[in-house]
Amino acid sequence: MPAGIHIKNLSFSYTSDKPVLKNISIDVAPGEKLGIIGPSGSGKSTLLLHLNGILSGGEGLVEAGGIKVEKKSLPEVRKMVGLVFQNPDDQLFNPTVEEDVAFGPLNFGFSREEVGRRVQETLKAMNLSGFEQLSSHHLSLGERKRVALATVLAISPQIIAFDEPFSSLDPEMVMQLINLINNLDATLVIVSQSFLPLIACCSRIAILRDGEIRADGPGNEIIKDGELLRTNGMDMSFYQNIYRKYFM
Ligand SMILES: Nc1ncnc2c1ncn2[C@@H]1O[C@H](COP(=O)(O)OP(=O)(O)O)[C@@H](O)[C@H]1O
Ligand SMILES: [Mg+2]
Repeated sequence: MPAGIHIKNLSFSYTSDKPVLKNISIDVAPGEKLGIIGPSGSGKSTLLLHLNGILSGGEGLVEAGGIKVEKKSLPEVRKMVGLVFQNPDDQLFNPTVEEDVAFGPLNFGFSREEVGRRVQETLKAMNLSGFEQLSSHHLSLGERKRVALATVLAISPQIIAFDEPFSSLDPEMVMQLINLINNLDATLVIVSQSFLPLIACCSRIAILRDGEIRADGPGNEIIKDGELLRTNGMDMSFYQNIYRKYFM
């Protein structure tokens, strides 16, 4: 059974003059898949970075699997909560793809054979078999993005936070990632501006705007509420117009 997330009255600012997260309370049940949308600069990435304690020092409480995320619990928390950064270059630092993907499992003490198995399995799932000895510097952004995903999947964390996982992926890979996410036995928080892939993965969607949760509910209700989306800077009507114009 995967672990859940409990966030209570979380407030955070990078600089004293500008609050970025304002009194956020949100719970994610074990195994639940929560999608978060919201305009750029809303605080989505900032919120995700609190889940495994990369950011802290604000007010309020963050718990993962019942464990308070704080300095002394970080080793335990980081094993439980995997975070896939929006920018793969924040995730990849080893000379080869294989070493990047093996890094987490090795660090968490898996046997050599188990590490090898995990590396092969996750690379295969990300369409990266044969990339083992390449340097991620030489890969395209979409390929680096897939390596970054693989480094986290290889640890099989109970909780995974994805920051814009669908950006820079081609349509076939988006489809594959949706399938993979839907088959993950983990608690997920996925931040994405790609609303359609998000809705295909997450039965629950929250809207974050200006550091506040403005809506939180079933995805199929949120997506139909044009007024709610519009007032929160997420107008999607042009997608519908394009769809009507070219597909109907
Ligand atoms: N390291 C930082 N130092 C100062 N301000 C930051 C930093 N990172 C993000 N911000 C600011 O915090 C706000 C929220 O940013 P972010 O969480 O990245 O939003 P989102 O992911 O929703 O686009 C933005 O106004 C951004 O400029
Ligand atoms: Mg962001």
